[in-house]
Amino acid sequence: MSDQTTNHKKLHIRTYGCQMNVYDSARMSDVLAPLGYVACDDAADADMVILNTCHIREKAAEKVYSELGRLRGHKEALAKGGRQMVIAVAGCVAQAEGAEVRRRAPWVDMVFGPQAYHQLPDMVQAAARGAGVVETDFPSEPKFDALPKAGGQGPSAFLTVQEGCDKFCTFCVVPYTRGAEYSRPVADVLAEARQLVATGAREITLLGQNVNAYHGESEDGSALSLGRLIAGLTDVDGLARLRYTTSHPLDMDEELISAHRDIDILMPYLHLPVQSGSDTILAAMNRRHRAQDYRRVVDILRASRPDIALSGDFIVGFPGETDQDFEDTLSLIRDVGYASAYSFKYSSRPGTTATAMENHVPEDVKAERLAVLQDLLDQQQVAFNQQSIGAEYEVLIEREGRRDGQMLGRSPYNQAVHVNGAIDAGIAIGDLVKVRVTSSHANSVAAEPLGAAENAA
Ligand code: 5AD
Ligand code: SF4
Repeated sequence: MSDQTTNHKKLHIRTYGCQMNVYDSARMSDVLAPLGYVACDDAADADMVILNTCHIREKAAEKVYSELGRLRGHKEALAKGGRQMVIAVAGCVAQAEGAEVRRRAPWVDMVFGPQAYHQLPDMVQAAARGAGVVETDFPSEPKFDALPKAGGQGPSAFLTVQEGCDKFCTFCVVPYTRGAEYSRPVADVLAEARQLVATGAREITLLGQNVNAYHGESEDGSALSLGRLIAGLTDVDGLARLRYTTSHPLDMDEELISAHRDIDILMPYLHLPVQSGSDTILAAMNRRHRAQDYRRVVDILRASRPDIALSGDFIVGFPGETDQDFEDTLSLIRDVGYASAYSFKYSSRPGTTATAMENHVPEDVKAERLAVLQDLLDQQQVAFNQQSIGAEYEVLIEREGRRDGQMLGRSPYNQAVHVNGAIDAGIAIGDLVKVRVTSSHANSVAAEPLGAAENAA
């Protein structure tokens, strides 16, 4: 036993990839807490280490194997002192390469996909008996029904409302690793939102691989759209902010767009990936829309909520991408104007349709295009942060800042905000405070708290 005075066992979870994995890691802790597992920061001293992995690009998947190499050393060191370390690989690499993980790293005790972690108590027992566990079936019963209540995640919490994807973009592993699209029933979402607020959340980000395709069953048996779910969540007392991610342009329906106009607690920020600005590439990607359809959605959104800040995902060097296709992406970015963005070199993934396509783009061309694209996106982000100097808005305080007296939070537009002099002003984690932006940086802005009078208003 690791701790002589209690039955506590130390659990170290390392999370890679998207916010859905962050949520899943929190839920794995919830499942393991009744078994006596408590979080620890040091992997070398843990009774159980879970790597919650990402398979989206090759680089992300490779990291897992190098980390497993390191863990092997820790496991052997602990064993010399008579302690057992259980090593688990969870998430999308586990789902995609289950058996291979155990072949390449036989010191791994458990391998399980994103749909199986509610079975952790059984898997832990089997692993303790020395039986290697590989669990990558998609269970017929959704895991959510079998999970304990969600625990406190702090002022800003994630809540998965939808999982999986039926879109089958030709570059993407998600439909294979996360399975078919599934929406949680409305009542479950509301109950979990209340639970999160009761344990300290003031902001909730609704998560789904294709969150705006949400169509959860409501009490009368009908399917509710994301726009209407968001309207329903306004009844949750104490919930001050809502966000959702990630969305597909095709599923930005009228109810969701008008929610941005009508619902105060829905933040004026939207992550709306387009991937490419070229119709040829969009078709090859099976995105099922043209660049002009995306531009139109953005126009309608901005008509509904003029100050909405947009973010996106971009892939450069998809097979067959020409200089002109790439130029089309740059001009879409110039036209739309992003507050922030994520961009990637196309990475060939096993089992996806694009892998078998011809005309793969050479690595050096991809790298060049990525640099040009990121330069443009960086300029836009800097400009967005700069134009907020002088703005007054509310910040949700999430943690202490690095500098003395400073606290860190997020603006309605999802900017990181360093609030100077916050501690002196009596501001605490979880507070929603009015601030004035005083300066801007590449990835954040700095602000000062407004007076007590404004903050009481
Ligand atoms: N190569 C590069 N980027 C990818 N993404 C998904 N699959 C790939 C891939 N094979 C990016 C997309 C998606 C984001 C989550 O990751 O931009 O929106
Ligand atoms: Fe992947 Fe496309 Fe589904 Fe997004 S919409 S998860 S990119 S298949």
